[in-house]
Amino acid sequence: MQQKIFSGVQPTGNIHLGNYLGALRNWVKLQDEYDTIYCIVDLHAMTVEYDPDELERNRVDTAKVLLALGVDPDRSLLYTQSQVPGHAELAWILGTMMPMGVLNRMTQFKEKTAGGTASNLGLYSYPVLMAADILLHHANLVPVGDDQRQHIEVTRDLAERFNNKFGDTFPIPEGYIPETSARVMSFTDPTTKMSKSDPQVKSRISVLDDPDVIRKRIRSAVTDSDPEVRYDVAEKPGIANLLEIMSACSGDSIDVLVDEYGSGGYGAFKDAVADAVIAEVEPVKNRYKALNNGDVRNVLRSSGIRANESALGYMDEARRATGLKGY
Ligand code: TYM
Repeated sequence: MQQKIFSGVQPTGNIHLGNYLGALRNWVKLQDEYDTIYCIVDLHAMTVEYDPDELERNRVDTAKVLLALGVDPDRSLLYTQSQVPGHAELAWILGTMMPMGVLNRMTQFKEKTAGGTASNLGLYSYPVLMAADILLHHANLVPVGDDQRQHIEVTRDLAERFNNKFGDTFPIPEGYIPETSARVMSFTDPTTKMSKSDPQVKSRISVLDDPDVIRKRIRSAVTDSDPEVRYDVAEKPGIANLLEIMSACSGDSIDVLVDEYGSGGYGAFKDAVADAVIAEVEPVKNRYKALNNGDVRNVLRSSGIRANESALGYMDEARRATGLKGY
């Protein structure tokens, strides 16, 4: 049987270069070979303070960006999590098997609450819902960035617990994480990852940004005072980040880039990085502008119906296995 891909993205504002290079680029690529299911995880987005009208706008807008990036509704399902009740139902079942000790060790929860996000049960059990997303569709591979490794481990662990207790039900999924640019760093602090929730807009580039904004952000990216371009994450995190970004966009290895730009100074190197990023994301904006919201909603509607139909069969299996056979 064809291997299945599942992944998700939160509808929380503009898709940035980290999302794209870490995960979404692979979403597009994997459509050629696999059965692909992509989800806008609106239930996850509710775990932090939000505005309902904005959530609705962001769901449609995120779908629009994904379509502009090349997610093809003829080959992939693209829907929102809340359209398919199985996500929440399976999360409940998996939650009954999730030790609190494991959740207490989740770095994303710890980081978010330490950063001032109000904790709530949804935020705490976020990884369980994410495991349910993946297992609901019996996915084999999950294209994500490096920051999701721990969540993938939890998913594998829950699948194993379930299979051991109730019989072989779920495939054990694996993360599909790129070799370069799996963790794109902030332009204002290259020791932290680029993030949608960073209050400093200069820390990131949106895939819809104009070329002059992209160039400005890259030119002003924090680096260091030693003028040599070389890859050294500990000593030169800003330059290492730009090398990774350029390598991902241009297809050249980091060694080749270091050879080419090593002694030419940061100004020339940053301009070359900007050129490579602009070339990579430029077509996205034009495709985005050509899409209208009505068409985007239609894609979500029809994908949601199909995703639900497919999930119902798997949910039925999970219900029977756990003693919840229907009457
Ligand atoms: P989200 O919306 O935060 O991010 C979407 C994807 O972008 C990747 N990413 C990055 N990659 C490289 N560098 C960065 N700076 C960077 N920032 C984000 C993320 O790794 C992710 O792949 N929990 C997920 C959403 C989710 C999900 C799922 C993913 C919910 N259910 C099931 C896969 C499978 C998240 O917060 O994504």
